[in-house]
Amino acid sequence: MSRLRSVVAGFGSALPRARVTNDDLVARGVETSDEWIRQRTGIAGRYMADADETTVSLATSAARAALDRAGMGPDDVDLIVLGTTTPDDTFPASATQVQAALGIHHGFAFDVQAVCSGFVYALAMADNCLRLGQARAALVIGAETFTRLLDWEDRTTCVLFGDGAGAVVLRAEEGTGTNADRGILTTHLHSDGRHRDALYVDGGPSTTGTVGHVRMKGQEVFRHAVNRLAEVVDEALTATGIRPDEIDWLVPHQANRRIIDAMGRKLGLPPEKVVVTVDRHANTSAASIPLALAEAAADGRIQPGQLVLIEAMGGGFTWGSSLIRW
Ligand code: ACO
Repeated sequence: MSRLRSVVAGFGSALPRARVTNDDLVARGVETSDEWIRQRTGIAGRYMADADETTVSLATSAARAALDRAGMGPDDVDLIVLGTTTPDDTFPASATQVQAALGIHHGFAFDVQAVCSGFVYALAMADNCLRLGQARAALVIGAETFTRLLDWEDRTTCVLFGDGAGAVVLRAEEGTGTNADRGILTTHLHSDGRHRDALYVDGGPSTTGTVGHVRMKGQEVFRHAVNRLAEVVDEALTATGIRPDEIDWLVPHQANRRIIDAMGRKLGLPPEKVVVTVDRHANTSAASIPLALAEAAADGRIQPGQLVLIEAMGGGFTWGSSLIRW
């Protein structure tokens, strides 16, 4: 049985100019220490967008790099799905601004809001559109200027996040319908709005008229993350019949080194099969997985034909996973 698959044709990423270390945060007056942040989270630094660097500008750079890598131009893409929590404007969708910046004047573009699960959600939406024939090639982007949402007086959250963008180009290609196909093999999405108060921003266009600041019950998020992520990874494995030892790379959402290590152990994967960027990028929300994918593919770790497992959890709560044959 042949069936359409969404095959990764290219990847790219973009980081803001300014690198900010933990010690830089201390120097700026945050009551914390490099030792505390590293020990609890594995974070050593993050990139922070200046005023002239926005979600759209970072997303556009990452998308251009992904198109170049795919050997494709603006005419070849007819869908853009952008996962972000920090759009340039409340409307229009940042995806349409990226579309304009890339000189794409056909097809359709929209944003997906699932916070840290944004890229997994965006990938699943694009995969659905491609497999149904609604588009032929898609840019899937995760982009954030998440530091714009931080309360610098709240040390329990402001040390955790950073800015950046990553993108992949997906192209619909005929496959055989087996796990041997290149492309997205399965996607799994969940949400449960009862957990809103564990992770949210205290503002919005319809309530305060402001963008608000991130508020988080860290331990509650941690506990849910480990359990929900284990479940949604199991779903992907069960749906495909793929065994954990067949996975070449785990590319998890980069929230916290301890959550990443727990997932690697749960799957029985050696640390060298787990892609980690949280030490240098911190938590870039929807951008973290495509940034990590782009890094590991660019440096030659992820090779065409290999099996890549991605998973994420974020505010809502939202969570999801996907298995991709690169
Ligand atoms: N620097 C120094 N001390 C701090 C800091 C800081 N930045 N932040 C908190 N502390 C203090 C607290 O005040 C507290 O002090 P006390 O014992 O005197 O009251 C102490 O450190 C311990 O605080 P906890 O909140 O219990 O610290 P915990 O070990 O839970 O670590 C953390 C906090 C890192 C946020 C952890 O709960 C965590 O990783 N949670 C997961 C949440 C996460 O990763 N969220 C990202 C967004 S969601 C997502 O992407 C999945």
